[in-house]
Amino acid sequence: MNDETLAQRGDRVLSGVQSHVSRLTVTGGRGPYLYAEGPNGQRREILDLASGIAVTSTGHCHPEVVQAIQDQASRLIHACAGIVYYDGPVQLAEELREKTGLSEYQFFFTQSGTESIEAALKLARFVTKKPRFLAFEGGFHGRSLGAVAVSSKYQAMYQPLMGPVGFLPYPNRYRAEQPEAVFLANWEAQLAEYMATHHADLAAVIIEPMLGEGGYIPAPAVCLQAVERLCNQYGVLFILDEIQTGFGRTGQWFAHQHYGVDPDVITLAKGMGSGMPIGAMAAKASVMAKWETGAHGGTYCGNPVCAAAARATLDVVEPLIPTVNALAHRAMAVLNDRLADHPYVGDIRGLGLMIGIECVTDRATRVPNPQWVKTVMAAALDSDVLVIACGGGAVIRLMPPLIITETQLLDGIERLCAVMHAHR
Ligand SMILES: Cc1ncc(COP(=O)(O)O)c(C=O)c1O
Repeated sequence: MNDETLAQRGDRVLSGVQSHVSRLTVTGGRGPYLYAEGPNGQRREILDLASGIAVTSTGHCHPEVVQAIQDQASRLIHACAGIVYYDGPVQLAEELREKTGLSEYQFFFTQSGTESIEAALKLARFVTKKPRFLAFEGGFHGRSLGAVAVSSKYQAMYQPLMGPVGFLPYPNRYRAEQPEAVFLANWEAQLAEYMATHHADLAAVIIEPMLGEGGYIPAPAVCLQAVERLCNQYGVLFILDEIQTGFGRTGQWFAHQHYGVDPDVITLAKGMGSGMPIGAMAAKASVMAKWETGAHGGTYCGNPVCAAAARATLDVVEPLIPTVNALAHRAMAVLNDRLADHPYVGDIRGLGLMIGIECVTDRATRVPNPQWVKTVMAAALDSDVLVIACGGGAVIRLMPPLIITETQLLDGIERLCAVMHAHR
């Protein structure tokens, strides 16, 4: 008999390159809960405030999504959009235009966020005939080599990377050293100087509306508006990475709808397919028209089963979007109240149901405290609440499914806060 745990078996046969936040083994999930086996064989019900990294916005195994997947799988699983036409991706693109405010865009479907980024970078080079990109420190756009070249993470491990790529600081209010107005003016001046110097070979500026992996830091609206204005002025493409912020997570279909900006290119994935691997690179039809047929493509792009899951996800998410801000407001109020005097809580911030709690060794020095966050995450899991971190491990991030009820969410927050107070 094999008495190894599943995690031990996995360690033996799976590549060790994939890191794991926990050793938790789950057997299934429904709604906001994951199921696992307790020490005495009893079923543990774990409130999942990670949503598989902002993916399962409709909760685990939403019946409408499951039904759509099953129906499509019995009709057609694959034929390749490069060979024939079938209805799924066409209907999905039509519905994205009709429902989500992306009426002027065309779509190239992918299987992941990083592929959406690769498509965006290739489109930008092809269309502008310029090589350079401008990205931001702390930004994370994926793990394929083009995406790594425009991300802060993993740069050192994979040199030489695609270039030229320039980096400027992401506008982080919590760590700003000047008064707000001066900080914003300086940030914009730095951007303007970079654009003035490099516009002749600059294909695109790529930025997240809110840093995801980098620490759940929302950009001030004026910063994204400055990016848009300067891109328009210099004939540079504005790529907005909405892979983590998209599909209702922030209380709008897409975060840029809060900011009043109109990017040339938007990258999507994560919450799009309720866990089925689908993403998209959306570009203004006028830009997409300049990308020559055959200059890019893929075997699985617009897979019928993934497209069916995405269409069902749109239907489930649509009525939830107006509820997101009220839920987020309640969550923020409770967090602010319960953690007001916590010595290790430096900042609580968010946009819709993307909430970050930045933890520090003390509030005056603001030195990041990833070690303490690790302790809190393990203790929260012992209390059957799953949370994960970002921002170099120092920011606890909450990204519950959008179907979560207020009672469920506040229960999870209360259990998390209790753990945070127990470990001070
Ligand atoms: C903003 C952003 N862009 C791109 C990616 C990469 O997505 P994927 O892991 O699906 O390749 C991520 C993943 O965390 C992300 O948060």
